[in-house]
Amino acid sequence: MTDAIPGPARMHEITDETRAIVDLVLEYSRGRLLATENPLDKPLSPAELSRLAGRTISEDGIGARKALSTFEHVLAPSCITTDDPQYLSFIPSAPTKAAAAFDVVVSASALYGGSWLEGAGAVHAENEVLRWLAAEFGLPATAGGVFVQGGTLGNLSALVAAREAARARGIQPDRWRVVCSVEAHSSIASAARVMDVEVVGVPSGDDGMLRGSAVREALAEHGDSVFAVVATAGSTNFGIVDEIASIAEVTREYGVWLHVDGAYGLAGMLSPLARHRFAGVEHADSLVVDPHKWLFAPFDACALIYRDPELGRRAHTQHAEYLDTLTETDDWSPSDYAVHLTRRPRGLPLWFSLATYGAAAYRSAITASLELAQRIADEIEQRDGFTLVRRPQLSAVVFERDGWTKADYVAWSNRLLDEQHAFVTPSSHRGRTNARFAILNPRTTFEHLTAILDTM
Ligand SMILES: Cc1ncc(COP(=O)(O)O)c(C=O)c1O
Repeated sequence: MTDAIPGPARMHEITDETRAIVDLVLEYSRGRLLATENPLDKPLSPAELSRLAGRTISEDGIGARKALSTFEHVLAPSCITTDDPQYLSFIPSAPTKAAAAFDVVVSASALYGGSWLEGAGAVHAENEVLRWLAAEFGLPATAGGVFVQGGTLGNLSALVAAREAARARGIQPDRWRVVCSVEAHSSIASAARVMDVEVVGVPSGDDGMLRGSAVREALAEHGDSVFAVVATAGSTNFGIVDEIASIAEVTREYGVWLHVDGAYGLAGMLSPLARHRFAGVEHADSLVVDPHKWLFAPFDACALIYRDPELGRRAHTQHAEYLDTLTETDDWSPSDYAVHLTRRPRGLPLWFSLATYGAAAYRSAITASLELAQRIADEIEQRDGFTLVRRPQLSAVVFERDGWTKADYVAWSNRLLDEQHAFVTPSSHRGRTNARFAILNPRTTFEHLTAILDTM
């Protein structure tokens, strides 16, 4: 059979051309997934990329071979490799090989993950993962939710549900408010902007932890206008876990929704080394944890879990004539639980990986990051000319090189990337620039980190 199918079906039928394209793409993917060394890479400017990539979109197409070659040789090398063991900025991503490989299967399988009618099998598997996570966090077996794109959308969806629940109780303040630590993630402020509500930022202690006593003061001041309190289970900059138990005591006393933002840190609860830090999370009305962070799944996936999923459903179900078939049933449709409709079953790579390796492998990988963070913190404390900003609770280690200005950190960070040594962007705390290792990749070693310290 030749590839000479003319007309609109050319791109969809199985032809020699189709087989060649699929082989090309899968071969490339196989090579990337099994490569032992991948360069760190770095971004080029728009002008450089235009020059190197040339024009790729045309009426006749440039063909799969040329398009893939452009990706392999121009576009991909201009993207920093987020699973590099020396990618230590922001929150790194280190998908397991099983999770990353299965992402290919999810794309190949034409799955729709928004409704039970269309995606029952996929949704069943995602829900098993959500139930497992809920049980780990001490939530009841009736808890449930959905995998959304990221922590930002998870936090927004949870807060929308919280406000709906307050409205349903007949509360009608002039202005709705959400209480959180001043160290809470920027996505809480972003959600508040979208919802047109006010953020009451409560100062944390010197140790960075928000406690129940400070939340009590905020609730006493703002009364019924507070529809939710957000406790952070692993702040992004420092990995600090708020004192969830004392915060939960206050939210229960006041009857206010408790949301736990564990996008980065809550996975730490899977390790016996850190489990105690999350005491009280079992009282959460909703929580998020991002598998694309410390649960070793590929981008993009956030597990959003409600204690009472019905409250999520009431807040989020979209109604439309063409959707009646889906909404006039009791089926569990993931679309109903967040600010979204169409979705890929993005929890499946985590499901496959968990099913493949077992939960114990996850516990030991997370434990390894926790141990490495403590070890490198000890090293930094002992090194002349270095100051540890705070003792790490989880796997973010923040430190200063004594006497350095912001310009020194920026020049050093740029040099590390230029030399393809490591990706460590400067951070800051209370106006002082610092350096930060976010240690999530099980392939990161103590020697990697000390070699980076040696460059300072
Ligand atoms: C604590 C916390 N919450 C929320 C987010 C936002 O998650 P995402 O980037 O997946 O939207 C992050 C991201 O780093 C985070 O660390």
